[in-house]
Amino acid sequence: MTKTWMAAIAAMALVVTGCRSSDPEPPENNLPDNVAPILDRDDAVDVHSFAKPLEARVYHVALDLDVDFDARRVAGTATLDIDVADDTETITLDSRNLAIEKITDIEGNPLDWSAGETSEALGTPITVTFGDARKLVVHYASGEDASALQWLTPEQTAGGRHPFLLSQGQAIENRSWIPTQDSPGIRQTWEAQITVPTALTAVMSAESVGEPVPEGETGRTFKFEMDKSVPPYLIAIAVGDIEFRPLGLRSGVWAEPELLPAAAAELADTESMISAAEDLFGPYDWGRYDMIVLPPSFPYGGMENPRLTFLTPTFIAGDKSLTALIAHELAHSWSGNLATNATWADFWLNEGMTVWAEQRIVEAVYGEEAYAQQVALSMEDLDEELGNLEDWQKPLAIDLKGKHPDDGFNGVPYDKGAAFLRTIEAEVGREAFDQFMRGWFQRHAFSPVTSSMFVEELKQYLLDGDEERAEALMLEQWVYGEDMPENLAQPPADAFAEVDSAITAFNGGGTPNSEAWSGWNTAERLRFLGGIEQDLPTVRLDALNRELALNETGNNEILFLWLKLAINNRYDPALPRLERFLTTQGRRKFVAPLITALAEDTEWGRPIAAEIYAEARPLYHPITTRGLDELNLLADIDDDKESAET
Ligand code: BES
Ligand code: ZN
Repeated sequence: MTKTWMAAIAAMALVVTGCRSSDPEPPENNLPDNVAPILDRDDAVDVHSFAKPLEARVYHVALDLDVDFDARRVAGTATLDIDVADDTETITLDSRNLAIEKITDIEGNPLDWSAGETSEALGTPITVTFGDARKLVVHYASGEDASALQWLTPEQTAGGRHPFLLSQGQAIENRSWIPTQDSPGIRQTWEAQITVPTALTAVMSAESVGEPVPEGETGRTFKFEMDKSVPPYLIAIAVGDIEFRPLGLRSGVWAEPELLPAAAAELADTESMISAAEDLFGPYDWGRYDMIVLPPSFPYGGMENPRLTFLTPTFIAGDKSLTALIAHELAHSWSGNLATNATWADFWLNEGMTVWAEQRIVEAVYGEEAYAQQVALSMEDLDEELGNLEDWQKPLAIDLKGKHPDDGFNGVPYDKGAAFLRTIEAEVGREAFDQFMRGWFQRHAFSPVTSSMFVEELKQYLLDGDEERAEALMLEQWVYGEDMPENLAQPPADAFAEVDSAITAFNGGGTPNSEAWSGWNTAERLRFLGGIEQDLPTVRLDALNRELALNETGNNEILFLWLKLAINNRYDPALPRLERFLTTQGRRKFVAPLITALAEDTEWGRPIAAEIYAEARPLYHPITTRGLDELNLLADIDDDKESAET
């Protein structure tokens, strides 16, 4: 924790309480000095939480939970430390589908509480009248289908012998298993005591404390502690038959034993990435950087849970070619986990900065050419994405009122966010920009941030208050505008010179060049598959498949582009591979576009989609199925059955 940061908090506490430092009375604000106060500004009001944190807020959570694989629920207590304003008598928590038995003070005396009206997107507000209590004990269990939790049967794991539990909190899922104020601007320290079946190991996004303690005949209790305040979406758990292998002095990987060797080999560059990141962004503040490679149902590529990044196994290609993912999740240790979007409207502050930072780590570890290629691919994705979006989705800072945060999840916060930062860098020079970014992370370490704070600080620190330069940079248009500002820094045009001429040759009718392909790296192959004509007759798809062995690729990003192309052109010979892909992993980024594309082709694709979805759905995380269920594919199957029966 930095001195400037502590001073800033002390100063804010003074403003809040209105007393001078010489006053004898202690400040009424009883926040510990490692917890940032709530940002009191309009753009920091979170429409996705029921909490009113300026009146009463949670600042520490202590979980004591039993993980019950038979009942598929966690049950126990959450003890919440709260900080309250003078004239406040109630505190509002977030929850979703929790079974709350009672809420008491720390002595066990019951407190009055009530559940408000449930909203489909946000869950149920829980309002507690706390009286003199400043510690609330919520006795509860998670409900059926808790949206953050996925319970895997043994068959859904690599080992096949033990069940597995994993959680995914971002954006507003953790309220389905932790009754706290689930808002990224309400930072909380936390600790946990987790009891699991003896054969299994529990890991969390925190420091693990001591050895597991036997609990009767059948259980073991694991303890965890996070003494840095985090936004609650970063509290995460995984339980399974997992083992650990160190990668370096401060990094290592957890995985099922079957997967561990391949996982460790793929992650061999982790220590170099951490060093590169520290050189670029300042000291790594979280102690260890470990990762867990999860079973294939994990709905994301990666999730930046502090001290323990969660990873999909689909990034394992055997040649480290998809490890920009690690650079990305590691970079979140600064962008997102130190300085955190105060609300989901400013999600780009987390993700756009992280894509920028990821690209810089890639450059430091793999060189300038790799950087240029990453940048060019990101810009190409952005171009394509912007063509498919509605206008409200195009600004960096978006209005999510009445919407689920997932509705704002697309390439804009990622790729447009990164393009914005690269544009500023191009204007002011790399050295000045890097220094500004280090300052940003330091000034806002362990604190919430908003878009307008970023714009204000760019003007103040980077542009020295020079209004004309601010104007020329088009800052407001970048952040709040829909159209791409014309000062956009273009990626180097020659990053893919050779591939681009191969694309031209192919589009002119040429045969795909297998020799050139085998000399290309993954970025080049992705460029090729994304750049060629997308409407192709079967003979040309045959040629691609034959020459480039696309159905056989072990690289899932390449496979994804190939399968998209295949669906787009009703290419039957790719169907067995498509079915295998969709029934063996549940990463939303892969699954959702492929199933949606199939479903949109009502004649050819939709029956295929229905059949595959019926088989694959049990494998998918609730986050992945949420959108896909809306396609009503399973109703098709029921209809078919019905008409077959009658
Ligand atoms: N934090 C995100 C994942 C996320 C975003 C989860 C929004 C829930 C809501 C993570 O850092 C991420 O962006 N993952 C990407 C990988 C990355 C290389 C772009 C993914 O999962 O594909
Ligand atoms: Zn990210």
